[in-house]
Amino acid sequence: MKIVAGNWKMFKTIEEAKAFFAELATTMPPQGDKVRVLVFPNYVALGALAEAHAVPDWVLLGAQDVAADAEGAFTGEVSPAMILSTRATHVLIGHSERRHVIGESADLLHRKLVNSLVASLIPVLCVGETLEERNASKMKEVVFGQLDTALADVRLSDGAQLIVAYEPVWAIGTGVNATNEQIEEAHRLIREHLKQLLGAAIGGFVAILYGGSVKPANFASIAGLPSVDGGLIGGASLKPVAFAELIAIAEQV
Ligand code: 13P
Repeated sequence: MKIVAGNWKMFKTIEEAKAFFAELATTMPPQGDKVRVLVFPNYVALGALAEAHAVPDWVLLGAQDVAADAEGAFTGEVSPAMILSTRATHVLIGHSERRHVIGESADLLHRKLVNSLVASLIPVLCVGETLEERNASKMKEVVFGQLDTALADVRLSDGAQLIVAYEPVWAIGTGVNATNEQIEEAHRLIREHLKQLLGAAIGGFVAILYGGSVKPANFASIAGLPSVDGGLIGGASLKPVAFAELIAIAEQV
């Protein structure tokens, strides 16, 4: 099964989000259970979409962030229970823009991940190295460090409770996707490390997505790689036509 996940980042008002799904609903839904479709709108749109029943039932929803605590005096934060009170089932944790632009620490991301798991919200843990780190041959060290801190002392009963997304920072929004060889190497390393951290059975089951300049023109080649369980897509997920194309491609690989 392949996962096609759209991260809308800070785009789309409520009306724009509804219009997206109205158009997507006119396209062919994935047949059978070969493809799972996930969309991560902003919090405001997420609530409105759920209220209006505006999302086709073959699309799962997720939030782009979550608080590190269950409830309390944390101005501006949104808890797992609040996210689950919309139709959302998933949450992005540690996206590169939150690590590198907003400045979230590894410890904060660990607390967000544990807080989500406790609430049965499925974390999509994003990892990936910067260009400087890759050029210094530190991809493995950086990605393993991000997995180690986020998953410290985490025990899962089922590999479906977690998704990992490998998103090299230098490939995000740049138009330069990682090569198939770079993706295969990183995903193979991540798989081995997940097995060490979570046990062979569970670590072997966790889905690993690739993200970074995925578009219809390169998705068949990327999604067809044996180590790739799907894509986490930014820019190309914002247009219903392109997103529907990505879903159709995932059905065929
Ligand atoms: P782009 O697909 O726009 O490169 O963004 C990738 C991303 O950050 C998905 O989370």
